[in-house]
Amino acid sequence: MPNNPSCRDVTLRSSVPSPSSTQAVAVVGLGKIGLPLAVQYAQHGWYVLGCDINPHVVETINLGQSPVHEEPGLIAGVDAMVSRGLLHATLDMTEAVRQAKVVVVIVPVSINAQYDVDFQTIDVVTAAIGAGLQPGTLVIYETTLPVGTTAQRCASILERTAKLQAGVDFLLAYSPERVSSGSIFRDLRIYPKVVGGIDEKSTSAAVAFYRSVLDAPIISMASTDEAEFVKLIEATYRDVNIALANEYACFADAYGLDVAAAIAAANTQPYSHIHSPGVGVGGHCIPVYPYFLLKGLEEPALQTQNVGAHMLTLLRSARHVNDAMAEYAVNRIEAITGSLAHQSVLVLGIAYRGNVRAVAFTSAQLLQHALLARGASVYVDDPLFSAAELSELGYTPLPAKHEHEICAIVLQADHSNYRTLDFSRFAHCRVVMDGRRALCPQYIESLGMQYIAIGDGGQKKPTAGGTARTPYVPLERCPVGELSLSGEPECLSLQAQYSLNVQNTQEEACPPDGVFLSSRPVNGGGYPERIYSEAGDNRWSTS
Ligand SMILES: NC(=O)c1ccc[n+]([C@@H]2O[C@H](COP(=O)([O-])OP(=O)(O)OC[C@H]3O[C@@H](n4cnc5c(N)ncnc54)[C@H](O)[C@@H]3O)[C@@H](O)[C@H]2O)c1
Repeated sequence: MPNNPSCRDVTLRSSVPSPSSTQAVAVVGLGKIGLPLAVQYAQHGWYVLGCDINPHVVETINLGQSPVHEEPGLIAGVDAMVSRGLLHATLDMTEAVRQAKVVVVIVPVSINAQYDVDFQTIDVVTAAIGAGLQPGTLVIYETTLPVGTTAQRCASILERTAKLQAGVDFLLAYSPERVSSGSIFRDLRIYPKVVGGIDEKSTSAAVAFYRSVLDAPIISMASTDEAEFVKLIEATYRDVNIALANEYACFADAYGLDVAAAIAAANTQPYSHIHSPGVGVGGHCIPVYPYFLLKGLEEPALQTQNVGAHMLTLLRSARHVNDAMAEYAVNRIEAITGSLAHQSVLVLGIAYRGNVRAVAFTSAQLLQHALLARGASVYVDDPLFSAAELSELGYTPLPAKHEHEICAIVLQADHSNYRTLDFSRFAHCRVVMDGRRALCPQYIESLGMQYIAIGDGGQKKPTAGGTARTPYVPLERCPVGELSLSGEPECLSLQAQYSLNVQNTQEEACPPDGVFLSSRPVNGGGYPERIYSEAGDNRWSTS
């Protein structure tokens, strides 16, 4: 049962099989994040009305099955919560909201081809919520949003459609969802929950709700704007950090140095947290959210003062650097093969990252574009997509009969299958560009192909006068060690005493050997303890 005494009981529709004494939360958007949240809330005793626009999603969940298969713990969680009558999915969002004490919104907001924020979904959803909103209900947005969206755009749609006043008749808060798909239930246990309301009452109600469903500490922010800003800082930090790593990689190539070894050594200094360079940054978060912050520069006040152009310049620059890495990788290949015109190149992995069946803002697009611009024939492979799906996405799947034509290969997404891929099938391949440092160089070179990687020292390796470097040995992907926060205070102030930094690479992949993994407080603060992997060893060690 929720432990928030202020929660009111709700009368549930007769068609909804649930104990009538249980309080209801409506979760709007039952996707990769929303469905695990719905399960988490149900596991903590709330009656969850999950709302989605997709009838297949709703029907599948009501059968006790999860439409999302990859999330650990989700299939069993949906089954258990539906059969206990604590989770019910519906297409009727307005009715669900009418019955709910709390509404949590987790539908996507992204950008369009012109890099403008596309608010269409959140606007539609907000209007439907407003149509069912009752006095006293708490509405929390968890979708990543540009600063100001909750307090201005969403509040005014809710007020207009509900004919109620935010802060007077209903409560409104923002709490960024910071979890990553693939480790959601673990992340919910350990990542502090950042919460900001439009006023004190809204903040307190949202904190009380999250206390009832999470074991993690809660950080209260001064406003919804500040809470929105937190998530944008997290995401854009990673984009800028990766851009810096990519610039170091280009420098390393020019100087015949191995950037991975240098970054790993630099990261043994507690204030250096450099991520990994690579062939590009994909996904629906890191390459997208810089534009959410840049959107803020369109504020009339900034425009009239003419200061917008001088703000967030690093963010713009980082986007440019990261998107240029595909072109850089192709240049490195052409330096070996000569002109790629009329040559066949294979891109391994079109997903935006390894082992994920999703293509949002994937660097495979940029690679294909750069290769086509050189006149190459571009083929792709991705074991997570059928040949028909690849074609539908605008790629040419590689037929077995064309394997012998391939002159160069780029590893774009480091799916685990590629670690055991038989490269001898590509009998005429001259060079393999390992865009994620996931392949075994010795194996590639034993086949007579040249192995290259972003930042491996380019043409100059090994360095003149330098010692022979131990060849790079890729580790198996490995789970980041559990971070125990036991003993931490439940609520943290804005000046939170510590940072959690377990996502170190291009969209949540495990970092390669020797690279910084995470930091955590030691005995309530102070110097961070740091966890590293050691080169050539897939055991994690702490130092
Ligand atoms: N995916 C991640 O790793 C991640 C991590 C942290 C935060 N987030 C946040 O969560 C948001 C959602 O991400 P996701 O991965 O769950 O997306 P998703 O695409 O997996 O799921 C979105 C769900 O919303 C539903 N939906 C779309 N329009 C709707 C409408 N008008 N009414 C009702 N339902 C509607 C879709 O049918 C789908 O089931 C992201 O935009 C981001 O802000 C995502």
